[in-house]
Amino acid sequence: MAERVRVGVLVSGRGSNMVALSEYRRREARSYDLALVASNVPEARGLVAARRLGIPTWARSHKGMEREEFDHLLDVALREHDVEVVALAGYMRLLSGEFIRRWDGRVLNIHPSLLPAYKGLDTHRRALEAGEIWVGCSVHLVTDELDGGPVLAQAKVRVRERESAEQLAERVLKEEHRLYPETLDKFCARLRPGHVDLLP
Ligand code: GRF
Repeated sequence: MAERVRVGVLVSGRGSNMVALSEYRRREARSYDLALVASNVPEARGLVAARRLGIPTWARSHKGMEREEFDHLLDVALREHDVEVVALAGYMRLLSGEFIRRWDGRVLNIHPSLLPAYKGLDTHRRALEAGEIWVGCSVHLVTDELDGGPVLAQAKVRVRERESAEQLAERVLKEEHRLYPETLDKFCARLRPGHVDLLP
């Protein structure tokens, strides 16, 4: 019987996607386990949520440190927890080229737009200002180009009349919470062809 893939989740904020990843795998047997939740913001709400869920956490402020130095510490923490796949979930920091090379093809991210449209921050406001009818979210592999790696899955949301960026963000977030766990599960299943044995 195949072991579940050990996933490390990186958060910088509230961590609602991390909670969605955790809940999804608790509902029934899936192809992954959350082995570590790590953060560059020691006071991040996502860390509190992870501790409540009983997931090991690691936190260290990046302030006053070179990007490579911080990412090296992060890399060590992930390896100490035998992490195989990294899932970014509101991780508000660029990863160093060296980290991305070391974890090549094994880092996923969720982004609140239909990539390649609206890379970067403030996606919902920009999409509304441009008069978009369809917006959404994307799960993609992380490369050294910001929000530019291959897209694995997307979910679309239709903009409502007179909708604010905050209202839209809330509706897109619900789709993120559905799309990210499903996509991570499929991604990890491909790394463990025998995982079907685990399903009830
Ligand atoms: C989400 O909108 C995600 O798409 C983006 O950052 C936000 C993180 O939210 N990358 P949360 O911390 O998962 O609640």
